[in-house]
Amino acid sequence: MKKVIVSPSILSADFANLERDIELIQEGGADWVHVDVMDGHFVPNITIGVPVVKAIKPVSKIPLDVHLMIENPQNYIDDFVEAGADIITIHYEAAKDMTEDILTHIKSHGILAGLSIKPATPACEILKYLLTADMVLVMTVEPGFGGQAFMKDCSGKIPVIRQNAPENLIIQVDGGINKETGKICTELGANSLVAGSYIYKSDDIKAAIASLKE
Ligand code: DX5
Ligand code: ZN
Repeated sequence: MKKVIVSPSILSADFANLERDIELIQEGGADWVHVDVMDGHFVPNITIGVPVVKAIKPVSKIPLDVHLMIENPQNYIDDFVEAGADIITIHYEAAKDMTEDILTHIKSHGILAGLSIKPATPACEILKYLLTADMVLVMTVEPGFGGQAFMKDCSGKIPVIRQNAPENLIIQVDGGINKETGKICTELGANSLVAGSYIYKSDDIKAAIASLKE
C-alpha cells in the first residue's frame, strides 16, 4: 500500500500557541503542516498570510504545505516562497487561464506546485494540468471554514484524476477528513490527507494521525 502524507491543518490549532501546536503534530508523526490562507474574497473568511508563514518556518521541521484560497494567486507566489513555503497550492477557479503559468512559476522556485478544485468544479476541467502539477487537491467541503461535513460525492473525482495522472502525482483531499472518510479517499487513490478538527480536537493527536495512515 502507498504511504499516506498526512498534513494537519493549523486552522484548527490555537493561534496563540502555534509553536506548541506545530510541535504537537510533528511529534505525532505529521508529514507536512497545512496552512490555510484565505482572503475574504475567494472565500468568505480571512485567516492567515505571509507573516505567519514566515514566523512558523523556523519552528517547523516538516514542510509547510500552503493552501492559497485567494484571488490573484499569481501576485503572492514569490512572497510565500520567500516566507518558506515548501508546497504551494492554488485554486483553479482563481487562476483560470493562468493556471499553467502559475504552476510553472511555483515549480521554478524548486518547490512543489499544487492545483485545487472546489466541490462544483469537475475533475475533467483540470486533467490538462496533470503533467505540470505535482499535486492535485480535491476539496471535499466548500473552502472557507474548518469543521464542515465531508461531501462524499466529491470523492468520485479522485479515481478520475488518478487514472489520468502520471504515477508520481500526489492526490490530496481536504475537508471533513477523519479515520472513516480518509479511508474512503485513500481507497479511491488519494495519497495525502489534510485534517484540521479531527486531529486538533483529538485527545490523542499521535493516534489520530496514525489512524489516517492505516
Ligand atoms: C477549508 C480548509 C481546510 C480545513 C479543514 O477551507 O481548506 O484545510 O482547515 O478542516 P477540517 O479538517 O476540520 O474539515
Ligand atoms: Zn486547506
